[in-house]
Amino acid sequence: MRNHTALVTGASDGIGLECCKILAAKGYNLILVARRMALLEQIAADLQQQNNAISCTVITCDLAEPQAAQQLFTDVRERDLQVDFLINNAGLLHNGFFTELDLVAQEKMIHVNVLALTSLTHLFANQMINQGGGHILNIASLAAWTPIPNQNVYAATKAYVLSFTQALHNELKALDCGVTVTALCPGYTATKMMDNPAQGGKLVVPSSLLQPASEVAAQGIDACLSGRATIVTGWANRITVAITRLFSRMALARIAGRFYRSNMQ
Ligand SMILES: NC(=O)c1ccc[n+]([C@@H]2O[C@H](COP(=O)([O-])OP(=O)(O)OC[C@H]3O[C@@H](n4cnc5c(N)ncnc54)[C@H](OP(=O)(O)O)[C@@H]3O)[C@@H](O)[C@H]2O)c1
Repeated sequence: MRNHTALVTGASDGIGLECCKILAAKGYNLILVARRMALLEQIAADLQQQNNAISCTVITCDLAEPQAAQQLFTDVRERDLQVDFLINNAGLLHNGFFTELDLVAQEKMIHVNVLALTSLTHLFANQMINQGGGHILNIASLAAWTPIPNQNVYAATKAYVLSFTQALHNELKALDCGVTVTALCPGYTATKMMDNPAQGGKLVVPSSLLQPASEVAAQGIDACLSGRATIVTGWANRITVAITRLFSRMALARIAGRFYRSNMQ
């Protein structure tokens, strides 16, 4: 029997890298996708050394480029690889006032967080239907559940990912095709994304609120393999989601706006 293969976008860092470590330990072959080739090659070599029954393929790809998802899908097919588990993890964040942030940077964020994720889901879901099954994990966020001033476009992209994934979960179930899709909603997670000078302001969050990326990845993969539609990681984040249901969206925007503006450096 062949090893299953997982494709992980944003495999060079943070939650994506932790997903790769977990899947390698489960015996999955990996297709590692991100922009930094040397780093991906080092990660691939390390994972293969630690898990000698697996093979890793590195594909560099800038998912902000037009047609990047289609090109990635073609690359995978030309290498005769069959994807059983897709993790749409690559994501960008920009903090600050919408009118002051660079427009091109925000367009790229929409391209990576929304367009590339949607295209990859479409392309690989069809391939998985033809092969009789598979799993897709789309990384949304706690930010998906509320409008967030000063993280405006980012939160909107994640609201899209959550809504798109939950609706698709229902469609795939109705098709009874053996393919499942899950939205993973982490809260603040200890990765470079929480402290990246390239993304505008830095949101200062108490370290007690940060979840380890390994924990987030493990919960997402478990939820996806068991066919759940949505997973919010950690009890504190689940309570936050429950509380958001008690307020109007404009009340949530006021609360979030105050919090983000007073904690943004
Ligand atoms: N950290 C949090 O608090 C948090 C909370 C909720 C949700 N999330 C979501 O979780 C996912 C992973 O975030 P993270 O915290 O692990 O971030 P991270 O540590 O900054 O890692 C981001 C990954 O995405 C890749 N990437 C970025 N832009 C790309 C592009 N244009 N094309 C291809 N790959 C690209 C990066 O690799 P290269 O630089 O090598 O391309 C990197 O591997 C994101 O979707 C994020 O929105 C994060």
